[in-house]
Amino acid sequence: MKDSAPVGIDALAFAGPAGFVDLAELARARDTDPAKFTKGLGQHRMAIAGPCEDTVTMAVEAGAEALRTFAVDPDEIGTLIVGTETGVDHSKPVAVYAHELLGLSERCRTFETKHACYGAMAGLTASMDWIASGRARGRKALVIASDIASYGLGTPGEPTQGAGAVAMVVSDQPRLLEIRPSSIGDYTRQVMDFWRPLYSKHALADGHYSIECYLDALSGARMDAVGDRGDLLQQLSACLYHVPFVKMAFKAHQRELEMELGRTIRRSEAQEWAQLTESYEHLCAPWLKLNAEIGNIYTGSLFLSLIDLLRQAGKQLAGRDISLFSYGSGCGATYCLGQIGTEVGAWQTVIDPSESLASRRRLSIPEYEALVRAAEKADRTERLNPADFGLSGGLYYTGTRNDRRHYERG
Ligand code: HMG
Repeated sequence: MKDSAPVGIDALAFAGPAGFVDLAELARARDTDPAKFTKGLGQHRMAIAGPCEDTVTMAVEAGAEALRTFAVDPDEIGTLIVGTETGVDHSKPVAVYAHELLGLSERCRTFETKHACYGAMAGLTASMDWIASGRARGRKALVIASDIASYGLGTPGEPTQGAGAVAMVVSDQPRLLEIRPSSIGDYTRQVMDFWRPLYSKHALADGHYSIECYLDALSGARMDAVGDRGDLLQQLSACLYHVPFVKMAFKAHQRELEMELGRTIRRSEAQEWAQLTESYEHLCAPWLKLNAEIGNIYTGSLFLSLIDLLRQAGKQLAGRDISLFSYGSGCGATYCLGQIGTEVGAWQTVIDPSESLASRRRLSIPEYEALVRAAEKADRTERLNPADFGLSGGLYYTGTRNDRRHYERG
């Protein structure tokens, strides 16, 4: 099928918290071999949000950065969608806080999407449909993925935490990535692999089962997108996946190659294993550096990998095709193909978050544990002073007074 008009991602930016934990240090504190976290899971650091950093503050920082660096006038935004599974209210969407704090026009449709890590892909495809339907009338959409992944101290999920937001402007003149609507395939199945009951701040996971569910969803969504094509990987310059931890991308890529070859790849079969590792090193591994430094940011993880690809190789891969796979536990998934913009090289430097990542503060394990405990109580704390947590120069949550959340620049 032919796509009528181009639509896709026109601007991208990342924002995250000021602190991080080193995973080798966490492993030692948990009496675990550090190689389990760094090699077994592929993670080196995880971003940790303190009590003054929440889904709203990160969404606004990322959104403002995307609008500023790509010179998008806030008045051009006609739809704002925040994909999150860690919102700040059962009723009021993060998006409407962000709408005010970003200074967007009142002529704007604003809502929050939730389906575990799939919320931002749901927002991206919904905003593409809004544009393709003609309802946008030349305006753009702002889709922001913002989350704090938290599993509880000492749980198996603990080393797969993280926090951060990725903002994307979606338009019919996408400078960064055109997504082909006819290439989009979807998958849904009710599974209990990962969830967060209303009474819990931390997610619950059937960890090993969740990996199986993810891989089944990849098979299903890819089949819906491109059928049983056995030659797709050869046509692609990169394969991007939802990245709860870096090793998951390897497992996902193995599943894709197995689908193409029509058989299971075993480590004991040296030739096929070498084909898999070579394909992974070429198509996936280079774009997982930010994920390894930041951790699982749930809805934004896939798009963080896209930022990584564009910041490193935008110019070199301009005009090339890539695949994207988004998975949300529970579960829902989408697989699609996109083409990198031909002028993307011009934006390579501005979307690179390395400088802000380099200024993050390394938290000792006792500091991290104290911060997590303070964050657990933050919703019920009247007054929070960002300076008490070493924070300045950003937008912060400063407490809930009279049942109302307060945000201030400090
Ligand atoms: P675990 O049971 O503690 O770890 O939890 P493990 O024993 O499975 O070990 C992990 C890997 O490290 C294995 O590699 C080990 O062999 C290796 P694999 O066999 O898988 O290739 N290993 C070592 N390697 C080197 N040196 C060593 C060593 N020891 C072991 N000494 C698990 C792991 C991922 C289950 C856990 O962290 C967890 O529950 N995480 C949360 C759930 C999750 O991330 N699921 C991923 C799929 S679901 C998803 O992506 C959705 C999600 O993002 C949520 C949403 O949608 O909102 C989670």
